[in-house]
Amino acid sequence: MSDFTGTWFITGASRGIGLEMTKQLLTSPTATVFALCRSPATATGLHTLKLSAGIKGTLHIVQLDVADAASIESGAKEVLKLLNGKGLDYVINNAGIAFGADFAFNFSPEDLLKCMTSNVIGPALISRALYPAIEKSTRKVVVNITSGLASIQNDHGPKATSYSISKYALNMLTYKQAREKPDLIAFVVDPGRVKTDLGGPGAVLEPHESVFGILKHVSGATPDCAGRFFGYRGNEIPR
Ligand SMILES: NC(=O)c1ccc[n+]([C@@H]2O[C@H](COP(=O)([O-])OP(=O)(O)OC[C@H]3O[C@@H](n4cnc5c(N)ncnc54)[C@H](OP(=O)(O)O)[C@@H]3O)[C@@H](O)[C@H]2O)c1
Repeated sequence: MSDFTGTWFITGASRGIGLEMTKQLLTSPTATVFALCRSPATATGLHTLKLSAGIKGTLHIVQLDVADAASIESGAKEVLKLLNGKGLDYVINNAGIAFGADFAFNFSPEDLLKCMTSNVIGPALISRALYPAIEKSTRKVVVNITSGLASIQNDHGPKATSYSISKYALNMLTYKQAREKPDLIAFVVDPGRVKTDLGGPGAVLEPHESVFGILKHVSGATPDCAGRFFGYRGNEIPR
C-alpha cells in the first residue's frame, strides 16, 4: 500500500481520473482528501466511495465549479475552514473539458472561451485562493493536469484546437506559478489516453493504471520538478 500521508485537494472528483485519484488516495489511513465537485448531490461515485469498506483515509466532499469564480471562492473558503489552520500539501487541478473535433480554421470562439475558462482560469484562481493554506505546508505541491496534445515538439497535428490551446496555456500558467514562488513545486502532468468520458473509445489506459503512476510521481515530487511537463509515469514530455 502506498503512503499518501497529507492533505490533498482534487477538482473534478465526481468521475473519471479525479474519482480514481480520490479512491487510491483513500487507501492510505493518513490521507485527508478534499474532493471537489460541481454537483455533490449527483456525485454518486463519491458517495459510494465514502460508504465503502476499503476507505481508510478521511474524505470531505465540497462543491466547486471551476468555471465559476464565485464558486471557486466559496469552495476554497470551505476547504480552508475544514483545514482549520493546517497546511494544504497537494493541490491537483484535474477538472477539465474538451471539444475534440475543432480546427484552427473552423473553431468556435465560444468553445475556445469555455476551454480557457475551465482549463486555465479556473486552475489559476483555485491555486490563488488556496495559497494561504499551501504556504503553510511543508510540501507545497501544485499539479495541473494537462494533455500530451499541449506539446508542440511532439507534433500532434491540427486536431482539438481549442482544447490544445487551453492546455498549452495551462502549461505556461504552471511555469509562471513555479517561477513566481520558488518554494512551490508546481508542474503539469499528462495522464495519457485514459478510458473515461473525456478520453473516449480510442483510449488505451485504464484509469487505475494512469492514476497509479500519477500519484507515485506526485507524492514523491521534489523541488526539481517545478515548472516541468511530465507524463503519468514521471517521464519528461517535450514542450
Ligand atoms: N482521459 C484522457 O484520455 C485525458 C487525456 C489527457 C488529459 N486529460 C485531462 O484529465 C483531466 C480529467 O479528465 P477525465 O478523463 O477524467 O474526464 P471526465 O471523465 O470527462 O471527467 C471530467 C471531470 O471534470 C469535471 N468538470 C468538468 N467541468 C467542470 C466544472 N466546470 N466544474 C467542476 N468540475 C468540472 C467533471 O465533473 P461533472 O461530473 O460535474 O461533469 C468530471 O469530474 C482533464 O483535465 C482532462 O483534460 C484526460
